[in-house]
Amino acid sequence: MLRLLAGVCLFFAVCGPSCTAAPAQTPSVTALDARALGASASGAFGPVALSEQEARIQLGRRLFYDADLSGDGSMACASCHEQRHAFADGMATHAGITDEAGVRNVPSLGNVGAFKTLTWLDQHITTLEQQVATPVFGHGPVEMGMPGWATLLHRVSGEACYQKLFAAAFKKDNGRIDARTVPQALAAFERILISRNSLWDQAQKKQALLPGPAQHGAILFFGPAQCAACHSGFLLSDQSFHKINTDHPARIRTPSLRNVGVTAPYLHDGSAPTLRAALQAHSHSPALSAQDEQALEAFLQTLTDPDFLHNPAFALPPETCPI
Ligand code: HEC
Ligand code: HEC
Repeated sequence: MLRLLAGVCLFFAVCGPSCTAAPAQTPSVTALDARALGASASGAFGPVALSEQEARIQLGRRLFYDADLSGDGSMACASCHEQRHAFADGMATHAGITDEAGVRNVPSLGNVGAFKTLTWLDQHITTLEQQVATPVFGHGPVEMGMPGWATLLHRVSGEACYQKLFAAAFKKDNGRIDARTVPQALAAFERILISRNSLWDQAQKKQALLPGPAQHGAILFFGPAQCAACHSGFLLSDQSFHKINTDHPARIRTPSLRNVGVTAPYLHDGSAPTLRAALQAHSHSPALSAQDEQALEAFLQTLTDPDFLHNPAFALPPETCPI
């Protein structure tokens, strides 16, 4: 049985009472997404003729929101990675299906396709395809608690819509549903989760002005406060591993700061409830006055991209099969 998280209580568990019904229309891929995929913006996207790549994305999106990927059918990727939080959540850590406490804070998936290594600490997970097994089958901690591929593939293969989508998405493989194609589809969806239209992006293109305090914050960030020594480039992350204080023995991958205004609490263990606390956890930073901290916070808030948080193409898909 397909358990898209649209079922009454599951839907609210995932989306919270603030979201309205699932979007009724078939999602469209924006020109921006199409460019990101290297496809032409006028390509054959749409419900009638899904390109193979678009079918893969629609399939990945459906899998991402499907609680059937968890042992007891109660938890989807989207249970922890919520669009309104830039695909993070609002909690320090998130327990899996057995209620075993989570260990790390749920990171945003905005622009996740641009990261060379995945997760806060691990330097060995280098592709989105490879990462899928961790939440689905992992034991440290148990997240989705799937016993193994056989159960997962049996469930997915039993769905007529999945059969059609796999056939359209993996033509050379004759629509095979296996331990390679399932992660490939999820990764295809994750790679279109691109966020690059924040107020700060608009200001850089001279399409908007940052408010005064945020402008001051940006000057500090890229200048005397030395934040950009680590939080650099498009992601505002150098993708390297650093220690920001002596309390934690391990080096942590510099997180992207895009959409950081909606991803509290912060740090790899969720120990900083506010942006202020996250800034103050950087014990090697140059001394900052309360006013400087306020300006930096104002700047960080301009990194929120409302288009990303509300793009219907990334939301819970309609229950009806897209093909
Ligand atoms: C129980 C909550 C939970 C569920 C369910 C979950 N995740 Fe995550 N996800 C996390 C946490 C926590 C991390 C950080 C893990 C770490 O750093 O060790 C993470 C990390 C990731 C990352 C790495 C992001 C980065 O910036 O490096 C990706 C990608 C990801 N998850 C995708 C998925 C996908 C796909 C699914 C469904 C198959 C999924 N997650 C299900 C909690 C969850
Ligand atoms: C030496 C590299 C380095 C410098 C310099 C640095 N950071 Fe960080 N920043 C990190 C790392 C690494 C983390 C993650 C630490 C953790 O999770 O324990 C982090 C975490 C953060 C977070 C929390 C993000 C999240 O999603 O949890 C914010 C906000 C932040 N930094 C802002 C700043 C600001 C503002 C400055 C300048 C005052 C700054 N950082 C300077 C490396 C750095």
